[in-house]
Parts: sequence; C-alpha cells; structure tokens
Amino acid sequence: MHTADNQWLKLANHPDDFNFGANNIAVIEIGGRPICVAKFDNAIFAFTATCPHAGGYLGAACINEKGHIVCPVHHYKFNIRNGHNVSGEGYRLKYWPVVIRKDGVFVRWK
Ligand code: FES
Repeated sequence: MHTADNQWLKLANHPDDFNFGANNIAVIEIGGRPICVAKFDNAIFAFTATCPHAGGYLGAACINEKGHIVCPVHHYKFNIRNGHNVSGEGYRLKYWPVVIRKDGVFVRWK
C-alpha cells in the first residue's frame, strides 16, 4: 500500500480480516513500511514493527493483560494505546490511531 501522509487509510473491511497470529498481532505494509496491527480489549491498534530500542521485530511481540506490548528481544514494554515505554527505559513506540467504523477499519497515517 502506497500513501500520502496525514490521511485516514482503509486497512480492512472488518477487524476479523487481519491475519492475526497467536499473539494477536498481524503485520501489514503501509508506504513500504512493516506495521503491526493488533487486537486488544475489543479494539484495533497500529504501531511500528521495529522496536525503538534496538530494532527488535515487534511482529513477534506479545501483548500482556495490561495492554503492554512486550518486545521479544529485551522485553521492554510499551503501552498499546499511546506508545509510552511503561518499563522505564525512556523510549517511545511510534503508533497510529485506528478507528473501526461500519465501512471498515481505518488508520490515520501521519
Ligand atoms: S530491541 Fe526491543 S527491547 Fe531491545
């Protein structure tokens, strides 16, 4: 998918259309970048597939019961809702807002 910045992009017709792994994360491509799409607490979230610490692949992350994305490499944790590094190392995870509407699942790409 190629796109301009700062627009709502349709990712799927329905949240069930993503190919989620057992970790509830699917990896898609937007603008040539791998992006994680995750389901948690009846919502959909989108964040970079590359950990801001040392580049760990977040497509292989897990999401804990608090909604923290846990990087598979050094286990730093990021809030799935806002990208905050909740384990205290001072990094921030790039994320994009997602909405689910009757006509599909949309991400605000910026
Ligand atoms: S690469 Fe993700 S915590 Fe180190």
